[in-house]
Amino acid sequence: MSDTPRLTELDIVAHSNSSRADYITKAVSADEAWVYIADDCIAGYAVINRSFFSRVTIEMLLIDTKHRRSGIGTMLLRHLEEICDSDELWTSTNLSNTPMQRLLMKLEYEMAGFVNNLDPGDPELVFYKKLSMPR
Ligand SMILES: CC(C)(COP(=O)(O)OP(=O)(O)OC[C@H]1O[C@@H](n2cnc3c(N)ncnc32)[C@H](O)[C@@H]1OP(=O)(O)O)[C@@H](O)C(=O)NCCC(=O)NCCS
Repeated sequence: MSDTPRLTELDIVAHSNSSRADYITKAVSADEAWVYIADDCIAGYAVINRSFFSRVTIEMLLIDTKHRRSGIGTMLLRHLEEICDSDELWTSTNLSNTPMQRLLMKLEYEMAGFVNNLDPGDPELVFYKKLSMPR
């Protein structure tokens, strides 16, 4: 729980949106959050749970702006694949989020479909990856 203030600091959405701050607190309380530590400071976090049709799902992945494009998102995703207790892993991102889509394609996630009308004019793309060695 002591990590929660730092997660709220690095996730700028939480600065102006109390429901994101509550989301972070709940994810940490539920042991669903993982952090990446660089130089003794949290540089990114991810949340994994079963929120999508009860499938193991990466619900959140966020890297501190000054640490982006240094491989941390890749390392966090790979860690979640290692601890995943299923042979498949699901996630989603907006059509407008090119960085996340490129990261997912690089790690060989496949697009499974899309959902309209969650964010106006910006469909949610759903991705999944078949894992060869579930834990
Ligand atoms: C998407 C995000 C998690 C990527 O994290 P990251 O640590 O910067 O990613 P990595 O450094 O591991 O990048 C791996 C690959 O992803 C792709 N990528 C990452 N950022 C990119 C960008 N800005 N533009 C294009 N491709 C990008 C590239 O293919 C990159 O490989 P390369 O650097 O060898 O070209 C990060 O930009 C972020 O936190 N964004 C805001 C939150 C968000 O949108 N989360 C996802 C939805 S929940």
